[in-house]
Amino acid sequence: GTTLGASAAEKGRYFGTAVAANKLSDNTYVTILNREFNSVTAENEMKWDATEPTQGQFNFSNADRIVSHAQARGMKIRGHALAWHSQQPGWAQNMSGSALRQAMVNHVRQVATYYRGKIDSWDVVNEAFADGSGGGRRDSNLQRTGNDWIEVAFQTARAADPGAKLCYNDYNTDNWTHAKTQAVYNMVRDFKSRGIPIDCVGLQSHFNSGSPYPSNYRTTLQNFAALGVDVQITELDIEGSGTTQANTYRSVVNDCLAVARCNGITVWGIRDSDSWRASGTPLLFDGSGNKKPAYDATLSALNSG
Ligand code: G3I
Repeated sequence: GTTLGASAAEKGRYFGTAVAANKLSDNTYVTILNREFNSVTAENEMKWDATEPTQGQFNFSNADRIVSHAQARGMKIRGHALAWHSQQPGWAQNMSGSALRQAMVNHVRQVATYYRGKIDSWDVVNEAFADGSGGGRRDSNLQRTGNDWIEVAFQTARAADPGAKLCYNDYNTDNWTHAKTQAVYNMVRDFKSRGIPIDCVGLQSHFNSGSPYPSNYRTTLQNFAALGVDVQITELDIEGSGTTQANTYRSVVNDCLAVARCNGITVWGIRDSDSWRASGTPLLFDGSGNKKPAYDATLSALNSG
């Protein structure tokens, strides 16, 4: 293939990007989006603060701009994210206990129902595990409603949209030896053994000097897949530049292609200037929309083998 999406499709996979609704009027941005990518993730527009700014009053207008754009062009849509400790609306941040639990369940049900049939995969729960060596859950208002909040979110999402793949998504879960990776793995294994509906695990894969691409990344992908879930690289970006950065992108793609159940890669933005990182050049296109060495390495890895 000559584009990321077409080349990934030849390998039975998708290649996606995070999209911001307010950039859909930027010609350079949309030209690259439409040419290169066959999956989109709303960077912020499907989050709780965006979709339910007032309790019980839903607003899907910005998310729908992204959904319409994707549907009109046959792109897959990753839904991001139904339940998360961050980017909650103010009213939810101030809630706790059974009231918050009910609000969370209602949110998951309403959003998943609204988009029923349109979402390939939902990040049902995002970033629920703690960093560091403890291997435990992240403390949050949602966690304090009870340890079962994650499985309740998955069960609610399944009932609302039985056709969507339901994913658990997190960062710093790339290195197989890390406690956080092991903790997520153990939760997924437990869910599978108890019949809690889970179909996929998203590895965000934000790589930088503090959390570099690990040499055992492929092992991590393989081990999750062996639990009977798909694995997806969901928010890929890699700090650096030039050949070093290009080689890391190549390694990531090769690792995904080596694992049959690694069925999609999403980069977290199009141009370096679109990145959530205030400084740095972690993406595949420069600020002018030119292909970087990282792009060439990614495309050639998708086309090799
Ligand atoms: O929309 C407001 C705008 O009205 C206001 O003028 C402006 C001024 O600060 O802020 C805008 O909101 C910002 C929003 O991005 C849209 O640009 C928020 O402040 C800012 O916090 C938000 O950052 C997002 C971040 O998640 C929030 O947690 C990033 O764009 C987004 O890339 C990032 O994405 C996360 C994933 O969801 C989960 N994994 C990690 C990843 C990177 O942090």
